[in-house]
Amino acid sequence: MVNELKNIEKISISKFQDDLISWFKAEQRELPWRKDQDPYKVWVSEIMLQQTRVDTVIPYFNRFIEWFPTINHLANANDDKVLKAWEGLGYYSRVRNLHSAVKEVNEKYNGQVPNTPKEISSLKGVGPYTAGAILSIAYGIPEPAVDGNVMRVLSRILSIWEDIAKPSTRKVFENAVRQLISHDEPSEFNQALMELGALICTPTSPSCLLCPVRDHCQGFHEGVETELPIKSKKNSQRTVELVAAIIKDDHGKILIHKRSENGLLANLWEFPNVEIHQPTVLERAQISDLFRESFEMNIKLEKGIGQIEHIFSHLIWNIRVYTGLISSTFQESNEWKWVSFDDMEDYAFPVSHHKIVKLYNDNKKK
Ligand code: ADE
Repeated sequence: MVNELKNIEKISISKFQDDLISWFKAEQRELPWRKDQDPYKVWVSEIMLQQTRVDTVIPYFNRFIEWFPTINHLANANDDKVLKAWEGLGYYSRVRNLHSAVKEVNEKYNGQVPNTPKEISSLKGVGPYTAGAILSIAYGIPEPAVDGNVMRVLSRILSIWEDIAKPSTRKVFENAVRQLISHDEPSEFNQALMELGALICTPTSPSCLLCPVRDHCQGFHEGVETELPIKSKKNSQRTVELVAAIIKDDHGKILIHKRSENGLLANLWEFPNVEIHQPTVLERAQISDLFRESFEMNIKLEKGIGQIEHIFSHLIWNIRVYTGLISSTFQESNEWKWVSFDDMEDYAFPVSHHKIVKLYNDNKKK
């Protein structure tokens, strides 16, 4: 550990803190989760901001807090409504974990988000980054909050050449933050590192000339700022071929299906679809057979209306979309509903299936 942080001795820590925090106080963006230090709001914002950009998060955060203003509201909210509040944000296990952790806080901690590393880290979905962010921002406790952005910033400032794609590397950066963090203003310090990563020390073309801590930056002095951080490539995504159908009954209602309560996009709604293992040309009859085998339904496929692609972090869905007909005697259940397009508003669908609706509507106009 000592070796990786050899450059920390070159930094005047109190000057670094001053330069960083003064800049943050002057330049920080006005963001809705910065209006107060309510630990619940900090928690919601930090979960939303994982893997999602600030601009995307802002309207979701505002609506989420409007719908569920307190721990108590969220703890008592209906699962489907909570999922609906997250619709389109992706990585839905984040909101399922948040919901169950909030229930635990309501019951076990009387609605108060715990303020010790041990208790807060035991909550579902609260990893080291989120724990550190809540403890520092809401409670003023000098704990590190190290995510990919903070690793990028610090890899440059301290010229750290460890591979940030390796999970074990986060500890190197947590150790650096423990040495650098201001004990008087830990919230401002951690948020300043995040803000610097968002506004100045960006991934491909950092604005070093505007950087408030350029004088402290080893990467800049060595002229290697754009070579850092070191991040090895992950394995490429697997492609899954699917056929989905917008299936109507004689009254024009559409059949939708609830996904399993486990796994990818758990509990979200979708148009019925099947995976095809030989992505060759498929006859319609073969597709109907697949639907029969998978769902015990007899559909009559009408026409192919196109294809959509959806990219997840680890997977690509290639979905061919058909329209089809089925008799309305197909029974509704917990997992199957007949709905109108207007009714779909009440159900949470993944973005890929919103793309299917768009494809269908564009096709109708033709
Ligand atoms: N990214 C992660 N956490 C953030 C925060 N609190 N403010 C702005 N960007 C962030």
